[in-house]
Amino acid sequence: MTSLVLTVRETLRYRGAIGQWSWVLHRLTGVGVVLFLALHVVDTSWAVFYPELYVKAIAAYQSPIFTIGEFGLVFAVVYHAFNGIRIVIFDYKPELWRHQAQAAVAVLVLTLLALAPVFLGMLSHVIDFYLVEQAIAGDRLLDVVLFSILEQLPFIAGFVAVLVAAIVLAAVYSLISGDSSTRSRYPQASPIEGFWWAFMRLSGILILPLVFGHLALMHVVQGVFDITAAQEVAGTLASNGTIGAVPSAVEFVYHRWSYAAGGVFVWRVYDMFLLVLVTLHGFNGLRYVLTDFTSFNHFARRTSVALCTVIAAVLLALGAAALFVPLEKDIIGEAMAATAEIYELRGEEVPAELEAWLNGAGDAEAGE
Ligand code: HEM
Ligand code: HEM
Repeated sequence: MTSLVLTVRETLRYRGAIGQWSWVLHRLTGVGVVLFLALHVVDTSWAVFYPELYVKAIAAYQSPIFTIGEFGLVFAVVYHAFNGIRIVIFDYKPELWRHQAQAAVAVLVLTLLALAPVFLGMLSHVIDFYLVEQAIAGDRLLDVVLFSILEQLPFIAGFVAVLVAAIVLAAVYSLISGDSSTRSRYPQASPIEGFWWAFMRLSGILILPLVFGHLALMHVVQGVFDITAAQEVAGTLASNGTIGAVPSAVEFVYHRWSYAAGGVFVWRVYDMFLLVLVTLHGFNGLRYVLTDFTSFNHFARRTSVALCTVIAAVLLALGAAALFVPLEKDIIGEAMAATAEIYELRGEEVPAELEAWLNGAGDAEAGE
């Protein structure tokens, strides 16, 4: 904590000009995206393992507060990516260092220029939803969001379990290795750290087209609201709502992950690369940040490393499990009950075809 306060105070006091602020922004955006990623991989796995919960999670994502967060998230990814490229170029071309202040400004300007059309595209999806589609009334909206969040509370136990596992791991490691005071408190330059240094740069460059492609699909080509709209699922030949009684977030993911070209499940392979690279890059980055703040305490430092390792391992296992599981149409049937609940919470009438489905008429179709 003292270290955190010291860092914030010194960052504000130190006149390191633009280079220092771009370092802070790179850190903040990186950590912000990692936190989102943790929730996102857990949520996405629900599409396969808890379809009803996925419907509710996406209902929460479609509320105004998350829409504002979505603009922030896209800014964070784009700024971090552009600034990451600057870091890579300067690392390999140190002779450019005298231009670093201009480069930091250029990154900010380029980010804003690139984001202008993207934000316009995203805004048009938001306006479409609120003006053209029926927006949810204010009082009902809060019900939908609270309901969606409350349903997810039991999963907090999972986060506590991860934290306990990290503390236990750090304690066991301390017992085995001992806390020798002769050892340096700071990380030594080692081949392993050298590997991670190079990995951060290489993975950053590889992630770039994958993350930008994913964001373009989810924010520009189609928006977050289109996940539950009756239209073609971009990147596939299928339309949402053709299997279930009405379109649903679960059917959206089902079509994405079922789409095969030349016998290859294109989006599963794509998401697998995205998952592995982004998780390793993000959580190793988080390790840098956390160990910077805990460098004066062995145990806190080890707990930070263990925490990053355990969370990354859990996310990789969960994300990969969701991608490898053969998809059955039953998951879409399961999503229908939750979709009806959302209609009721919104104060809207449950569509007749959905009622019929829930009364058994659609089950046979989904099971085909
Ligand atoms: C609000 C913004 C986002 C939305 C609405 C969104 C939506 C989705 C959806 C619908 C899927 C599952 C189906 C598919 O692949 O199309 C998915 C999977 C995935 N997304 Fe995103 N995404 C967003 C942002 C991001 C960002 C910023 C990252 C990376 C940092 C990311 C990483 C992933 C990964 C790794 C998977 C695969 C997860 C798994 O294996 O279970 N997404 N996303
Ligand atoms: C899109 C392309 C990306 C590029 C080009 C990129 C590049 C970089 C680079 C060059 C570093 C510095 C590494 C070091 O100091 O050794 C870094 C750090 C970091 N990145 Fe990324 N990155 C990208 C995406 C992401 C994503 C999607 C996340 C989150 C899941 C992320 C999270 C982090 C974190 C937390 C750090 C540590 C920040 C620090 O130590 O101050 N990055 N990135």
